[in-house]
Amino acid sequence: MTSPSPGRAIRVAPSILSADFGNLSDAVARITPVTDWLHLDVMDGHFVPNLSIGPPVIASLRAHSSLLFDTHLMITDPGRYLEAFRDAGSDGCTVHVEVGETGPLIARMRALGLRVGLALNPDTPFDAVAPYLDAVDLVLCMTVFPGFGGQSFMPEVLAKVRQVREAVDAGRLEVEVEVDGGIDDRTGADAVRAGATVLVAGSAVFGRDDPSEAALGILEAAREAVAPAGDARR
Ligand code: DX5
Ligand code: ZN
Repeated sequence: MTSPSPGRAIRVAPSILSADFGNLSDAVARITPVTDWLHLDVMDGHFVPNLSIGPPVIASLRAHSSLLFDTHLMITDPGRYLEAFRDAGSDGCTVHVEVGETGPLIARMRALGLRVGLALNPDTPFDAVAPYLDAVDLVLCMTVFPGFGGQSFMPEVLAKVRQVREAVDAGRLEVEVEVDGGIDDRTGADAVRAGATVLVAGSAVFGRDDPSEAALGILEAAREAVAPAGDARR
C-alpha cells in the first residue's frame, strides 16, 4: 500500500543551478513567496563531470534569504567540507551514499547541527540507504544521473521512491523523501504519488519566464495528485 496519507506536507525546492548566476539574489527573491526551501547544487568535477558553486556563494546568498538551505553535495570527499557548508549557512547537507563512509558522515553532520540527507543515484538500490533510515532527515532519490540540469526524468526510479516511502512509513520515521532531476508539474505529480514530499526543480522553475508561477504550478499539480477523493481542490 503506497498511497500517500492525507495531509503529508508537499513542497517544492527550487534549484538555483538553472538560475542566472550573475543575479542569484534576485532569482531567490522571485521564488521566496511560494516556497520555504532552496536547493543548492554543489559539484566538484570528480564525483560528477561538472563544477558549480561552493561555500562562498552559499554564504553570500545567506545574507539575502531566510529560506531553508538544502545543500546537495555531489562531491567525492564531503567530510572535508561539511563544516564550511554549515558555516556558510546551509541548514542541511545531503551526501551521496556512493562516496562511502556513510555512518561517519551522518555522525559528523549531526555533530555540526546540520539536517542530514542521504542521496542515491538512479542505479543505486534502496538497500544502500535502508540501514541508515532511522538516522537521517531526508533521502534524496536522484531521478537523473547527477551533474547537469535540464535532463529527462527517469520514471524507473519511482519504484525506489515507493520502497523508501514504505520503509519510512513502516518505521514511523520523520524522513523527507526528495526527488531531483527532470521534475515538472507532470513528473512531480508522479513522484508524490509514489511517496515523495520534496520536489527539487531547476529548469522547470528558473528556466521559465515567471519562476514563482512555475514553482506554484508544480506544487499545485503535486498536491492535487495526492488530494483525498472529494477534496475541494480536485
Ligand atoms: C542535477 C542537480 C539538480 C538539478 C536539477 O545534478 O542535482 O538539482 O539542478 O535540474 P532540473 O530540474 O533541470 O533537472
Ligand atoms: Zn540537486
